[in-house]
Amino acid sequence: MSVTKGLEGVVATTSSISSIIDDTLTYVGYNIDDLAENSSFEEVVYLLWNRRLPNTLELEDLKIQLAANASVPEEVLNHFKTFPIDKVHPMAALRTAVSYLGLFDEEADNATDEANLRKAIRLQAKMPTLVAAFARIRKGLEPVAPRKDLGVAANFLYMLTGEEPDSIAEEAFNKALVLHADHELNASTFTARVCVATLSDIYSGITSAIGALKGPLHGGANEQVMKMLTEIGSVENVEDYINQKLANKEKIMGFGHRVYRKGDPRAKHLKAMSEKLTKLTGEPKWYEMSVKIEDLVTNQKNIPPNVDFYSASVYHSLGIEHDLFTPIFAVSRVSGWLAHILEQYANNRLIRPRAEYNGPGMQSYVRLEDR
Ligand code: ACO
Repeated sequence: MSVTKGLEGVVATTSSISSIIDDTLTYVGYNIDDLAENSSFEEVVYLLWNRRLPNTLELEDLKIQLAANASVPEEVLNHFKTFPIDKVHPMAALRTAVSYLGLFDEEADNATDEANLRKAIRLQAKMPTLVAAFARIRKGLEPVAPRKDLGVAANFLYMLTGEEPDSIAEEAFNKALVLHADHELNASTFTARVCVATLSDIYSGITSAIGALKGPLHGGANEQVMKMLTEIGSVENVEDYINQKLANKEKIMGFGHRVYRKGDPRAKHLKAMSEKLTKLTGEPKWYEMSVKIEDLVTNQKNIPPNVDFYSASVYHSLGIEHDLFTPIFAVSRVSGWLAHILEQYANNRLIRPRAEYNGPGMQSYVRLEDR
């Protein structure tokens, strides 16, 4: 047995959902660049779940189903009110809420393909509502009910603020959702697949995945990027701050990737959005600081930015609170998790690797009273 730390380079499954080949990301063979420029998030959801793009009627039907399932039970919203609200991170709230939501789904343990698809639609539809509702409840505001006439991107921003977003915000948020929807066997997707490969239910799979996404080495990095930008404060401070961090061998959040070498293909889209939105909001400094950080880190370490780096200033420019950045990632990525969960069920085998034992050798047991 030989150990591959972090399972680097280990191919653990086959999948027809997304691929990363030569630093190009595709969903079902479609280049992410084309999808980011042209498609709605709902189209991508359909693509990931059906392995083909929808026609107009199929897309309309999915949108209707998502809108029809977007409300969450009152009990779940009331549950938020019992949380120690000023201390709870929204990712922890979301993890708990998804698990709690499962208790109200009468089909939670119905493992037929049809029931699993219905649960997938319910979860995809309700995740944005959960995140937006928690964001409001913790501020003492009433949740805003989802609207049936809005798509996922516009509806989320509407539920968050109570106001319909303008087309620029809707388009930007839609693109961010498209870019975050799936990413091959990333840590949270692997977590979801490991969980359901025991034939556990979808709610358990998604709850586990949210837990994995929360960590700062994975989805949690986008919030940390904004924390760093806020700490730095202005373009003049960037150089000293970054040099100091690199000298201390600290990681710069939003940089590096296990798979990409030349760069994360999603980052350029978010960079362009960041430039546009920070100008529009009159705060170009967030973009300018980010570009300077990118120059320093790539020149000194040759480590390019990942999806989390420019998404921070994009979300900030959309007026989104910084600790909601990772839950927003989950609102999109749940589409990929669900696609992978359904794929795992369709061709399942328990995922159970081995560990190389490096503890003490055989020991003689000494009874408690003799120790
Ligand atoms: N800043 C500075 N140095 C870095 C960074 C970084 N962000 N990322 C990697 N390195 C360096 C490491 O210090 C290490 O150097 P060494 O060989 O001299 O010790 C080398 O690059 C390899 O790094 P590892 O952490 O071993 O690479 P790994 O593939 O295990 O980790 C990861 C990938 C977790 C993404 C890493 O690059 C990282 O911690 N980045 C910062 C957190 C982040 O942005 N996460 C989001 C990733 S994208 C996503 O999950 C959505």
